[in-house]
Amino acid sequence: MEKVILDVDTGIDDALAILLAAESKQLDILGVTAVNGNVPIDTVVTNTKKVLQLFDNMNTIPVYKGAHQPILRSTHYAFHVHGEDGLGGALQDMEVAKNEDMYAPDFIIEQARKHKGELTLIMVGPLTNLALAVQKEPRLSDWVKKVVVMGGLVSEGGKGNTLPTSEFNIYADAEAAKMVFHSGLRIQLVSLDVTLKAFLTKERIEQLKGTKYYEFVMQSTEIYREMARKKFDLEGCALHDPLTVGVVIDPTLVETETYYVDVETKGEISYGQTVCDFRNLLGKEPNVEICLDVDHKRFIDLFIETLRVNENK
Ligand code: RIB
Ligand code: CA
Repeated sequence: MEKVILDVDTGIDDALAILLAAESKQLDILGVTAVNGNVPIDTVVTNTKKVLQLFDNMNTIPVYKGAHQPILRSTHYAFHVHGEDGLGGALQDMEVAKNEDMYAPDFIIEQARKHKGELTLIMVGPLTNLALAVQKEPRLSDWVKKVVVMGGLVSEGGKGNTLPTSEFNIYADAEAAKMVFHSGLRIQLVSLDVTLKAFLTKERIEQLKGTKYYEFVMQSTEIYREMARKKFDLEGCALHDPLTVGVVIDPTLVETETYYVDVETKGEISYGQTVCDFRNLLGKEPNVEICLDVDHKRFIDLFIETLRVNENK
């Protein structure tokens, strides 16, 4: 089993990513670290605990609270996408147990040191926790096996979801992303170029009927599907974070190449842009494995089949 830490800003698609990771039985989830992102950090922690309690009521997977704000910039929430509560109004009445005391960046360092060469970090929120961890312990770049990041866009210029050039996770803390991209960590970027193709439709959600996840997935994604319909005239919701987990479960889902990628932190209309040097104009060492294409049908099948494993339980 692949040893992983999930770093989340739960959010609706983070919740689906957590369920995919937990139900896949192919990932040894050492813990889930929470970061300020879609919603404020305390809401992220509560939502993450709720989703893990939906998975199994024994609180077997620990949750660690992380950064409450970006490294430098002001907070920038996505309430319009995920709702004020961050879960589209789902699981409102669920009570949660307390999270762990250790600070999330310290947990990342502790586990990377303990499992040298074996730990994959799955980052599906802003990169603040990882930037703080690598700043405190630069040897992380030697200890961590791989960092798989949901973020950015590289080929589909102008099709960002926060600015025309910029995707939310990077935009919400571009300075943190720049620190991570220049840290020497082995990074794979699962960007909007592929995640926007991983579309979950209402028809596919209906296939979860009979599982304990059906109500939650249908209710939590309603606001998300509505926003996609209004803003992009698209039917369904993009499974940005679940695809990032999917790529760790089955790396053959995506086609990748490695290039030099940097992050814009000074741009007036391009703050948070992930700039990929396809023609090596800058002559810099390639540092990021980018995703050029995805077998999105096979991924959606994987997502639905993994969550159905709980049929009628
Ligand atoms: O741009 C999509 C990303 O931003 C996803 O991780 C979503 O949860 C939000 O954090
Ligand atoms: Ca997220």
